[in-house]
Order: sequence, then C-alpha cells, then structure tokens
Amino acid sequence: MKVSMLAGAIPQSETFAIDARVKEMVSRGLDVISFGLGEPDLDTPENVKNAMIDSIRKNRTKYTSSAGILELREAIRKKLLKENSLDYSINEITSCNGAKHALFNALFSIINPGDEVIIIRPFWISYLEQIKMCSGKAVIVDSNEDFTLNIGNIRSKISDRTRAIMINSPNNPTGAVYSKKQLKELADLAIENDIMIISDEMYEKMIYEGEHISIASLNDEIKNLTITINGLSKSHCMTGLRVGYAAGPKEFIEPMIRVQSQMTSNINTTAQYGAIEALKDDEYTKKMVRVFADRRKIICEELESIDGVSLVRPKGAFYVYPDVREILKTDGTHSATHPKTSMELTYRLLDDAKIAVIPGSAFGTEGFLRLSYALSEDRIVEGIKRMKEILK
Ligand SMILES: Cc1ncc(COP(=O)(O)O)c(C=O)c1O
Repeated sequence: MKVSMLAGAIPQSETFAIDARVKEMVSRGLDVISFGLGEPDLDTPENVKNAMIDSIRKNRTKYTSSAGILELREAIRKKLLKENSLDYSINEITSCNGAKHALFNALFSIINPGDEVIIIRPFWISYLEQIKMCSGKAVIVDSNEDFTLNIGNIRSKISDRTRAIMINSPNNPTGAVYSKKQLKELADLAIENDIMIISDEMYEKMIYEGEHISIASLNDEIKNLTITINGLSKSHCMTGLRVGYAAGPKEFIEPMIRVQSQMTSNINTTAQYGAIEALKDDEYTKKMVRVFADRRKIICEELESIDGVSLVRPKGAFYVYPDVREILKTDGTHSATHPKTSMELTYRLLDDAKIAVIPGSAFGTEGFLRLSYALSEDRIVEGIKRMKEILK
C-alpha cells in the first residue's frame, strides 16, 4: 500500500532535521554550538508558568470552545487594538496551535485546488509546504537584494488564479523589516486585484531598526483582505506551549474555527491560561530584545570579518542571513570535497567545526546560510571563531 500523494510530497522540515542531528551529537558528548533552531534561549516567564500551574490546580483542564476561551480572545483583541491599531471584534479572532497552525488554517480557508499563492523568496519553508498541503500552487517572487519587497516582481506574477500573498516582517530568515511605504504599495496592489494578504507578524517585537507596521492597520479596505497571524512562541519564549492566533474578516475566521473544531478541537487549555497572562504586558519581551540587540551587533561584526562572507545587516527578528557564494565558488584549484552548495557547507560546518546553521536552500536561495543568534555572546564568538577556522 502506498502513502498518499499529498503526504508523500511533504518533506521533513530541514530545521528540525538538522536540530535532531545536533541533539544526537550532543548526546554523544560533543560540544556543538547551534545557530540552528529559531528558538529564544530564555525561560518562559515565571508569571506565565504560575498562571498555567494555577489553572491546572483549579481543574481547568477540559475542552474549551474551538476558537479558545473568551478571556483569551478578549486578551488578543485588546493587544491588537493597543499595539497594532487593529480593531477586531471577538468573532474575528481565533487562537490556534501555534502560528504555524494559524497559517495552515488561513490557507485552508482561502485557497481552492490549483489557486496560486505568492510567497517572497527567501521564504520560510513551511509556507511552501503548507500551500502544497492545501492543494494550492506557490508562486515564488524574489525580494530585492536587501531582502525588502519588490512590488514590481509581485505585480508581474499576479494572475487570475492568485488568491493570496504571504508576507513576513520582520522576516525569517533574513531579518528584513518592510517599510510603511512598501506595505502601502503592497496593500494598493492587493486591493486593486482583490487578493488576500496573509501577514505573519511573529517577530513584530524584535526590531532594532525601523518600526513594525501591521498591514491591516493601513486602511479598512486592506483590513478586509488581510488575515493577521501572530503567536507567543518567540515573544514570550513559549515555543513548546503552542499558542498562536489569527485575526481577520469573519468570513475567513469562521471556517478557520470550524476546521480547527474538526482537527484539534481546541488549543491546549493550560497554555491558553498562560497566554492570557503573557498578553498582559511585553516588558519581558522588551528585556529580551535588548539582549538580542547586543548579540546582533556581535554576530554581524564577527561574520563581516570572515573573508568571502558578506551580509545585509538584519533589522529585526533574531537571524542573520550571510551570503557565502564566494566561499562556494570553485575555480579548479579547490579539492574535490570543496562544498559547492549551502547544504554541503552546512554539513561540513557541523561535522568538522561542530557548529549548526541552516542552509539557504531550505529557504529557496542557494549560496546563503541562516544563523539564529538566540544563544549567549560567548557561544556566538566561539562559534564564529570555529567557522572562520574552517572557512580558511
Ligand atoms: C516566520 C515564522 N512564522 C511562524 C512561525 C511559527 O511559530 P509557532 O508555530 O511556534 O507559533 C515561525 C517559527 O519559527 C516563524 O519563523
């Protein structure tokens, strides 16, 4: 009996595959420095943990409504109003099992088989795979050299089958932050062509230059065409608790809730109580971002000091996306084992230097590496030193 065509076509996430190898190496006692997984290295805030423990003691461990308990949706509503200038009603909001799941539910509610969804390269790999899982067709559009939006490129790829454009600012993997002007141009384009925007705002609080603008806040017309996605994994170091959410027009949020009711019933009840507490303030996130700002400076300077590596300095998130095309070039004088792809270089760095990175090919661009700087300054410096040695 063969596996289904749809499931057979979905690969394992490259990030998780590399992380599994790192964990295996660490279990053998090897000192691996991981710039791999996009996971903040700080602990979940104490008040969030206490709220969850308290909810368990109060026996709040049963099913909830599929969209989440009212207090959680109300906390999300208030957050979006206060921080994003987005005025939604409760029935335009749903919680999901992480932002990843919110993205899937949004795509599932928007596209019919064969419909096209535009994604911007470099792209977060799950966009591509989730579009496939919904029987849609991903149409890939290149960003500018500095990884910002190229509106002309997007316009040229719009067809009568285009149903949505997915954007992610601050961006994983590049750290690019889209300007208000670019978002306004994109909004105009979407309105003109009646195309939905799925705006993944996971890293909204991690900004070192520029500002975060929710595209849906620009005007009512674009708000009616946008599903805003966010979650608490990164802002409150809650990756394992799986709390994400979506806000948008009721005609799309309602089916998203129905799909969730058939798929997972509701998100973890205990995590919902933690999320309410997390959404009360973002002091914790602000503190974390100050730490990341210092790390960003260090990792950029260290990487820029390596021959053959060039960098567009990231303005947000906690990733750098150095260009290593010079290093991968071969001119006949290199040995046969000289790495020619970002994947080969990744495994060389892992095996020989014991440092983990993610190859650019996992994000649709060959010749780049993604490094997450969610690790201590000492480890960053030591890791890049190892990288420098090998790349010599
Ligand atoms: C761009 C982007 N969107 C969404 C997510 C999903 O986050 P989660 O499902 O943990 O909420 C991630 C996680 O790495 C991400 O990088």
